[in-house]
Amino acid sequence: MKSLIKNIGILVGIDESGRDRIMGGEMKNLATMTDAYVICEDGLISSYGSMKDLPEGRFDEETDARGGAVLPAMCDSHTHIVYAGSRETEFVDKINGLSYEEIARRGGGILNSADRLHEASEEELFEEAMPRLHQMLASGTGAAEIKSGYGLSTKDEIKMLRVIRRMAEASPMTIRATFLGAHAVARDYIGRQGEYVDLICNEMIPAVAAEGLADFVDVFCDRGFFTPEETARMLECGAKFGMRPKIHANELAASGGIQIGVAHKALSVDHLEFTGDEEIAVLLGSGTMPTILPGAAFFLGMNYPPARKMIDAGLGVAIASDFNPGSSPSGNMKFILSLACIKLRMNPQEAINAATLNGAYAMGLQATHGSVTKGKRADLWITEPVSSLEFIPYAYGVSLTAGMILGGKRVL
Ligand code: NIG
Ligand code: FE
Repeated sequence: MKSLIKNIGILVGIDESGRDRIMGGEMKNLATMTDAYVICEDGLISSYGSMKDLPEGRFDEETDARGGAVLPAMCDSHTHIVYAGSRETEFVDKINGLSYEEIARRGGGILNSADRLHEASEEELFEEAMPRLHQMLASGTGAAEIKSGYGLSTKDEIKMLRVIRRMAEASPMTIRATFLGAHAVARDYIGRQGEYVDLICNEMIPAVAAEGLADFVDVFCDRGFFTPEETARMLECGAKFGMRPKIHANELAASGGIQIGVAHKALSVDHLEFTGDEEIAVLLGSGTMPTILPGAAFFLGMNYPPARKMIDAGLGVAIASDFNPGSSPSGNMKFILSLACIKLRMNPQEAINAATLNGAYAMGLQATHGSVTKGKRADLWITEPVSSLEFIPYAYGVSLTAGMILGGKRVL
């Protein structure tokens, strides 16, 4: 199949350098071309160029971008979109002064979602989660990571991961799955945290691996959740079964999570609200992608991670939505771009790089996703006509999506 996208006002994110991620001062550079076309063949980008040089030819599908921007579809490397029901009562508790940790201590939070997920069937979870994936697609996302972590028992964790596998089969988006049995200590194990860690290592990880259900292993390594020592143990168990770590770290305190993640060759360490010079020094020179989730800091009213300082120190960063019922009930990456600019003081080019190639890297998809590159998958986000690429994050809260092309096919 051969398809054409023509009359592109600005083609954004062109990269033929072959690099796998974008670091430090490079993040502010984003190659563009005005008045452009893209040709896709068999799902991949085969060529692009200026409209005046558009080659003659027949196409199975033609899209007129009508002067809109075309960007690499965004790569949302951190979500928890398989869950049952919502938690707006906790939202009101927070407005009335309770903190995320206080809510969790009262048995709300993750355990609240685990109770509800326990009651839901695989079919019900699938039906609830697919519209969330569709909302993400509509905001410009073409690839996403989805975590388990509301099961907290072998049976329910497997149930969640099977739902994720079904979603991957049903959606044109690229999906990566992460096992997050260590999201919280299950209710039955409260006061016996060590035994819960044993359960994860001895039973859950082998069972998940036996069905090939997870690409990555994650642990919520933070104050009040899992310690660096417990985290190290679970990451080592996951690694034995071929699951690379992607961990939650330093959201609630300087927990040592970043150091443990880097020491275990984590693909990413995520959240990072509490990141200082020591953590930045550890990340520099590592293969670990620091991943910032500004939606969680926004929604919980917390301090934002020091993204500006991290980039100025030479780090590449990714941004992701963290779409989940407790700390970030939205997967709108278009809004995350705006938050990155407004609250993290990233410029629009840095924010787009963070949401595209660096997000792809944080899922191990950098060879095929995240930039407009000949031979990469033709996953493209088409916007309404815009005056400049800066207009995209500037127009916060406004959906600019005019179309989505995934694997060279128009899906929206
Ligand atoms: O990434 N921080 C831990 N986990 C999620 C929140 C999960 C929840 O509250 O349901 C997060 O923010
Ligand atoms: Fe998360």
